[in-house]
Amino acid sequence: MKEKKTFYITTPIYYPSGSPHIGHAYTTVAADTMTRYKKMRGYDARFLTGTDEHGQKIQRKAASEGKTPIEYIDPIVDVFKNLWKTLMIDYSDFIRTTEPRHIKGVQQIFQTIYEKGDIYKSEYEGWYCTPCETFFTERQLEEGGLCPDCHRPVEKMKEESYFFRMSKYADQWLKFVEENPDFIQPESRRNEMINFVKQGLEDLCVSRTSFDWGIPITIAPKHVIYVWFDALSNYITALGYGSDNDELMQKYWPADIHLVGKDIIRFHTIIWPIMLMAAGLPLPKKVIGHGWILVGDGKMSKSMGNVIDPVVLVDKYGVDSIRYFLLRELPYGLDANYSEEALVNRINIDLANDYGNLLSRTTAMLQKFQGGIVKAPVTTDDIDDALLALMEETPAAVEACFDDMKFSDGLAALWKLVAAANKYIDEAAPWALNKAGNFDRLSTVMYNLCEVIRQVTILLAPVMPTIPAKVWQQLGISEMAEYHTWESLKEYTFPVDVQIARGEPLFPRIDLASLIIEEKPVVEEVKEPEYEPIKEEISIDDFAKVDLRTATVLACEKVPKSSKLLKFRLKVGAEERTVVSGVAKHYEPEQLVGKNMVLIANLKPVTIFGIESQGMLLYAELDGKLEAIEAPTVKGGATVK
Ligand code: MSP
Repeated sequence: MKEKKTFYITTPIYYPSGSPHIGHAYTTVAADTMTRYKKMRGYDARFLTGTDEHGQKIQRKAASEGKTPIEYIDPIVDVFKNLWKTLMIDYSDFIRTTEPRHIKGVQQIFQTIYEKGDIYKSEYEGWYCTPCETFFTERQLEEGGLCPDCHRPVEKMKEESYFFRMSKYADQWLKFVEENPDFIQPESRRNEMINFVKQGLEDLCVSRTSFDWGIPITIAPKHVIYVWFDALSNYITALGYGSDNDELMQKYWPADIHLVGKDIIRFHTIIWPIMLMAAGLPLPKKVIGHGWILVGDGKMSKSMGNVIDPVVLVDKYGVDSIRYFLLRELPYGLDANYSEEALVNRINIDLANDYGNLLSRTTAMLQKFQGGIVKAPVTTDDIDDALLALMEETPAAVEACFDDMKFSDGLAALWKLVAAANKYIDEAAPWALNKAGNFDRLSTVMYNLCEVIRQVTILLAPVMPTIPAKVWQQLGISEMAEYHTWESLKEYTFPVDVQIARGEPLFPRIDLASLIIEEKPVVEEVKEPEYEPIKEEISIDDFAKVDLRTATVLACEKVPKSSKLLKFRLKVGAEERTVVSGVAKHYEPEQLVGKNMVLIANLKPVTIFGIESQGMLLYAELDGKLEAIEAPTVKGGATVK
């Protein structure tokens, strides 16, 4: 028998430093879909995921909870594994970097490169970002000494370290990338990486001595191996690199696709390939950097309280809908915004209205007009030809996209066929054919619809793990596995005389109104506010006369006998001032203490209720409501321009 072609795909291994969110779910669902697709197309497909468990970040997190790293990690790893089960992720292997097979493999890679002379001992002096587990030189830091990637403070580091001679490989890398134009995807990321390497590569510090949660270097055990060197190696240690059994390495390496987020593309397209070059191993065929799922235009983070838990979504909407949404919503290589409203719209429009309805209309009519029996097609018509021509083209169009992991485009191509089939029902009007007694035409139309649904469902199967079985059930072809295969897409071949079995709607509609009210119980009546007209034009010189300053509120109290006034004690640079302001209806005095507000500092003093007011504080006013203008982090005295 001919050996199957192999295919090997990986996700990044996730840090078990917090619970997984829909960003992690996206990558893993995409890799799983690709694996299912390749398997359906006859490949021996292998899919690896796992967890990245070493490093200073994990050690600190564990310590902050009074736990050992393993005590801290184990339950989080279970959360990841459970999520993958919930999302029906069918991985071939799950690697944990704390497993002996991995530790041994990493030590072996390190030793091989060391013996070759490409790892040497020296002293590291520079900066380290623990959240990113990344080294930076002074020059690379962002203004204010922050990490250029995550913008958080970095730490100074000085220690004896081992270095990986990356600089030596810059030319070889550039040559490889030139000769393999598909290696880094999408194109824009490729250009970024080429520019980065063209500026010259520095040797990479690959060991640490200031903490110990890592893999010790065999010949120098007080050093632990840099966590990225450790983590990247997982793609081959999981295939048995460094063990006595190299069967999987022989079979699956080099990987066909490393799927990673855009933030870690540099590690995968520069450091990892150079590690492999130095170790004398073949390079992966492709690294795809996908975009990010953003929430409200920004990153998800615990501190923002906007982390979206995929388990909650699957419970609420089902695994097939969530997987479809993730893959449909993220355009190739680009970011996309998540909102529950967008999710519900996709479910209602694409799944309930288009695909689900196509099945339920078809089965309802079959039941009503033909006693639930699918009959052979007899006639042809122009509208049949148009639909069948589109059906014939669709698999190739979907495959072209899926082969490149352009799932959003592939699903859009597939939905053209779904839309065409719905339109075909409207145009062919089976109810009218039935009424007119045109049964030959009726059976043809119904047959064509069943065949389109069959083909659409096969093409969707890699994305939706549970839906196909339900559709086969309703179409009466559950037991006919030969009609469920990718191979069968080549033919126009729905079995004749099967008895269908109508069932529940595949995707019940979700009431968007109830969701919005539940989520955002605001704005009952949206009324345009009353804006004041813009005043007469002034020159820049007029404006320059006004001296605006930040003013820190030291104290604030009600003015006796006044319902409107508050008396402020302000610090403006070196001096203190008293100002009276008419905001007692809008703020309690203690709400304002400590704020850095904005003051007109050169306004002629006036006396109000017997108090000399030395300036005027500024507020924004709309519809009679006042809100203090603040410079939250700028202490009193700064100029405002
Ligand atoms: N442990 C490293 C990877 C080592 S691979 C040898 C790591 N882990 S991570 O848990 O921080 O991130 C894993 C992946 O999740 C990355 O590819 C990252 O891009 C992805 N995502 C994290 N947040 C994301 C979104 N909001 N949207 C999409 N993917 C995102 O980095």
